Amino acid sequence: MNMRYSVAILLLPVIATPLRLLQAQAPADSRSVWDGVYTEEQAKRGESVYHKECASCHGDMLTGGESAPALTGGAFQANWNGLTLGDLFDRIRKTMPQSAPGRLTRQQDADVLAFMLSVNKFPVGKTELYRQSEMLKEIRFETKRPPSKN
Ligand code: HEC
Repeated sequence: MNMRYSVAILLLPVIATPLRLLQAQAPADSRSVWDGVYTEEQAKRGESVYHKECASCHGDMLTGGESAPALTGGAFQANWNGLTLGDLFDRIRKTMPQSAPGRLTRQQDADVLAFMLSVNKFPVGKTELYRQSEMLKEIRFETKRPPSKN
């Protein structure tokens, strides 16, 4: 075989592999809260955390209280529209519950976030929300359901 051909054949996988990896990552990058990013189970766990840790200020129905804002509805969704679940998760982790920020575990914070998504009527899915904000940053918070990708 001609030397130049064999070099090209040897190099082929080296070039093709990174291309394949890029393709594999594309769908993950374009996920949003409309893609079923939490489970019903998780939202249920989050509901009990919420009632223990958050409801006294944010209200039983998440509609807000005397000084705490609503965690559902138009104004809340407008605040977060275009940001990511990672941003919302960090906000909760660093500042809530306001009386004792950072007291909850990552798991509890992720569960509460799942509950908030369910009250805000974003669809349930088959996998639970991540507990790492870097990974949650790949899921966009979008008020409007994006046009179907199919
Ligand atoms: C002691 C009262 C209190 C408790 C308990 C509390 N919060 Fe808050 N929360 C507030 C107040 C007041 C604000 C607005 C001022 C601020 O941002 O600190 C707020 C703001 C927020 C925001 C930002 C809302 C927005 O649209 O910008 C989120 C999200 C939030 N709280 C989530 C939670 C969660 C989840 C819990 C339970 C783990 C919780 N809070 C517990 C008082 C509370």
